[in-house]
Amino acid sequence: MAPTGKLLLADVAFSGVKQIPSTYIRPISDRPNLSDVHISDGSIPLIDLHGLNGPNHLTVIGQIGQACQGDGFFQVKNHGIPDEMISYVLDIARQFFKLPESERLKNYSDDPTKTTRLSTSFNIKTEQVSSWRDFLRFHCHPLEDYVHEWPSNPPSFRKDVAEYCRSVRGLVLRLLEAISESLGLERDFIDKKLGSHGQHMAMNYYPPCPQPELTYGLPGHTDPNLITILLQDDVPGLQVLRNGKWIAVNPIPNTFIVNIGDQIQVLSNDRYKSVLHRAVVNSERDRISIPTFYCPSPDAVIGPPTELIDDENPAVYRDFTYGEYYEKFWNKGLVKECCLDLFKAFS
Ligand code: OGA
Ligand code: NI
Repeated sequence: MAPTGKLLLADVAFSGVKQIPSTYIRPISDRPNLSDVHISDGSIPLIDLHGLNGPNHLTVIGQIGQACQGDGFFQVKNHGIPDEMISYVLDIARQFFKLPESERLKNYSDDPTKTTRLSTSFNIKTEQVSSWRDFLRFHCHPLEDYVHEWPSNPPSFRKDVAEYCRSVRGLVLRLLEAISESLGLERDFIDKKLGSHGQHMAMNYYPPCPQPELTYGLPGHTDPNLITILLQDDVPGLQVLRNGKWIAVNPIPNTFIVNIGDQIQVLSNDRYKSVLHRAVVNSERDRISIPTFYCPSPDAVIGPPTELIDDENPAVYRDFTYGEYYEKFWNKGLVKECCLDLFKAFS
């Protein structure tokens, strides 16, 4: 952001610029083609989790397995997280990004190893082109290790966000059991692979952009973690790649979007897919999204389980620690889209 002297994008975006700074302009071959988004292909599956604990248990497990295999993405309703909790977390995020610049900057850092930080774009130390996004990112499991680092403004941030984190973790643990079961593994199989578990959360803020055709909120990428639970406000922006085409995932109030991350792709030995997705921006409205990134702890060893390996299905990946994987992810600057190729068993 050197040309403008501002550290955060929001403070540039709202200064009345009519043209985006050149650092945000993508080469012509790498632009979002916003008119070429496929709405007619339908959206990602919407799964009702209400049936997970009843007589329809196996049907729901089947739907989850199908979605993980086919789309790598699904939406969930009746997920157990109260509507009020969803709206106050979105509200807190919105309030946070409206705080005066000096107040927001208290949390600023461009060091990806910091466990609580506000930053912009993706990784400004390594990337060539910037992305149209500010984000607050923080660790949230175990809560008591991190909550004291979180912003204390808005005043209810720590209390309310902590409650939300706990609830989302409960949802993740249920989904991990269901996903293990759908792979024919013991229900606690994935849970046990994660060491002491990790949970990170981001609040993404995408300001309105005067030239949304030239840039991304986030360019195409897969999530490096295990599984992501995304909450978005009512402004569209998320797109998912299906059969080579970008599909818009338009918001449905009070649902979450779930996507398989790279670590489930490895733990399923490629049966389940960590799918490319991206966020585009628009010239009208700012947009908030709140992903929870559930992950193994850095020392957890990840690799295809012997239960899913045989002569016809050899191990696609070597064993690695999640710490090793995660470091590669941040350093490559979202340029190579996905790190999985670097961890293949035979490359
Ligand atoms: C992410 C992500 C999508 C969005 O933060 O990894 O994919 O809609 N976000 O903000
Ligand atoms: Ni993502």
